[in-house]
Amino acid sequence: MLLKNKIGLVTGGGDGIGRATCMAFANDGAKVAVADIRLEMAQKTVDLIKANGGEAIAIKVDVSKAAEVEAMVAATVEHFGSLDCVSNNAAGGASFAMLPEMEEGSWDKTQAVCLKGVWLCLKYQIPAMLKTGGGAIVNIASLSAVRGEAMQSPYSAAKGGVIALTRTAAAEWARDGIRINAINPGGIRTEGIKRYFEQVPGAEENTAGVHAMRRLGEPEEVADAVCYLVSDRASFITGTSLDVDGGIMVNPHTL
Ligand SMILES: NC(=O)c1ccc[n+]([C@@H]2O[C@H](COP(=O)([O-])OP(=O)(O)OC[C@H]3O[C@@H](n4cnc5c(N)ncnc54)[C@H](O)[C@@H]3O)[C@@H](O)[C@H]2O)c1
Repeated sequence: MLLKNKIGLVTGGGDGIGRATCMAFANDGAKVAVADIRLEMAQKTVDLIKANGGEAIAIKVDVSKAAEVEAMVAATVEHFGSLDCVSNNAAGGASFAMLPEMEEGSWDKTQAVCLKGVWLCLKYQIPAMLKTGGGAIVNIASLSAVRGEAMQSPYSAAKGGVIALTRTAAAEWARDGIRINAINPGGIRTEGIKRYFEQVPGAEENTAGVHAMRRLGEPEEVADAVCYLVSDRASFITGTSLDVDGGIMVNPHTL
């Protein structure tokens, strides 16, 4: 049990990688605050955790709104007593177009949720963790930030910002017992990637092939990496970003 007696919080916990992370936190012994803009989906995750004998609460949040993020952190601490391990995972608003055709509104919405949302979460989570001597945070970035992603300029730029923000926050709080890392998933089988496949012709056929393993990842494979990074097993790791991507960067062109 990597997270026995810890209190966890996952944004975007109502679906995909976020739901798998909530389940993994609970299976590893944590009590979990499941936060999502869709309360009914967060509640579904809570029901799944409770059916497995775990403890969880659902919280409605739009991570781009400061007051809601502050209330999410306060509700977690009020209910469970502390905040120990977090995955800032929520993302939304991405649209797909070549850069000149991309709407300015898409840029603004994507930055608000994917980048400002993570910044707001850190802003309120760090003081909460300091009260109990520290904690660990994993921000979900993307391989799109590492290698670029055609048709997704606002998203890849926002995720690049998440990696930079992770390093900066890690530098600020390393001496206070708070470790902050990022994970860069490759293509993971979720509703999120399904929307991409539906809107970008050929994407589904091409995506598996960019991974050296020649398959998409499963949400649970990212969740396991999150659990490790927020656990005490990763006690000397901070400010890094871990690619969980089936080997996209080592994909051989000759095999
Ligand atoms: N699936 C992939 O292939 C992939 C690849 C790289 C990175 N990622 C990243 O992993 C994370 C999870 O992706 P996913 O594929 O599981 O996504 P998903 O779309 O399946 O789930 C995202 C969840 O976030 C919630 N959400 C959306 N906007 C929100 C907001 N403003 N406030 C709070 N919650 C909000 C949604 O309701 C949903 O439950 C995201 O940060 C995404 O960018 C995913």
